Amino acid sequence: MNSHQKSVLVWDPIVRIFHWSLVVSFTVAYLTGEEKNELHIFMGYMVLGLIIFRVIWGFIGSKHALFENFLTSSPKVFGYLKSLFSNKPKHYLGHNPLGGWMVIALLMMLFAVTFSGLKVYALKEGEGPLSMKIEQLSPISTAYAKEDEMQRLVAERDEVGEDYWTEFHESSTNIMLILIGLHLVGVVVSSKVHKENLVKAMLTGKKTIQR
Ligand code: HEM
Ligand code: HEM
Repeated sequence: MNSHQKSVLVWDPIVRIFHWSLVVSFTVAYLTGEEKNELHIFMGYMVLGLIIFRVIWGFIGSKHALFENFLTSSPKVFGYLKSLFSNKPKHYLGHNPLGGWMVIALLMMLFAVTFSGLKVYALKEGEGPLSMKIEQLSPISTAYAKEDEMQRLVAERDEVGEDYWTEFHESSTNIMLILIGLHLVGVVVSSKVHKENLVKAMLTGKKTIQR
């Protein structure tokens, strides 16, 4: 850094802790995705907790963490894309317009993965917040229906749902892997184009700017 350069804080500690905890918990959840694995369930809950937290932080966090500061209109996104191919690519201190929407795609897909995980957990193991005991279904119908008839109907319903949500959990995980691939390509490409180290910035929180 020379005298014309200045170091500024871009990513607050919360964003950085969120990011690297997410990388670790997602990776461990992915690697332990087998039947009846306590670590898998725990890491899945971690991911869910982290994304809920990040959404809240998107409304009350520091400047570059706020959704309103990095979600832009489509002309801006296309303008940024076009500028990448010019000799004067448009530089943003926080997320660039494309990266900003990628954050939303990543968070939404992570929600699909964790929600379907909770459904699988409920239907296969009868555990977790989405599991329902027969007695909880409807007090009136359970009072009048024959107990074994109810059991049979619920089992039938769960079996269909089980296959559906397991399939959903696996496919959404695979789509997530594709998004992560694109995310990493985005990080590498924009680091090159703007001649800055984005990975280092996500670690230290700081970027160097010209005065
Ligand atoms: C080792 C692999 C990874 C590296 C080096 C990396 C790097 C980065 C960098 C540099 C940014 C900031 C982008 C910018 O400057 O606009 C970022 C943001 C982000 N990354 Fe990653 N990433 C990695 C893996 C992941 C994974 C696996 C996920 C999801 C499971 C993920 C989700 C996110 C999200 C949601 C953001 C937005 C951060 C925020 O605004 O809170 N990243 N990543
Ligand atoms: C980001 C977080 C998560 C990732 C990346 C992930 C990934 C996976 C993968 C790859 C599998 C293996 C699927 C297969 O059998 O081929 C799996 C299975 C499973 N996951 Fe997750 N999962 C996540 C979160 C969760 C959560 C939050 C729960 C529930 C609390 C959960 C519950 C389950 C269950 C019960 C299975 C076993 C499915 C079976 O019997 O085949 N997962 N997960």
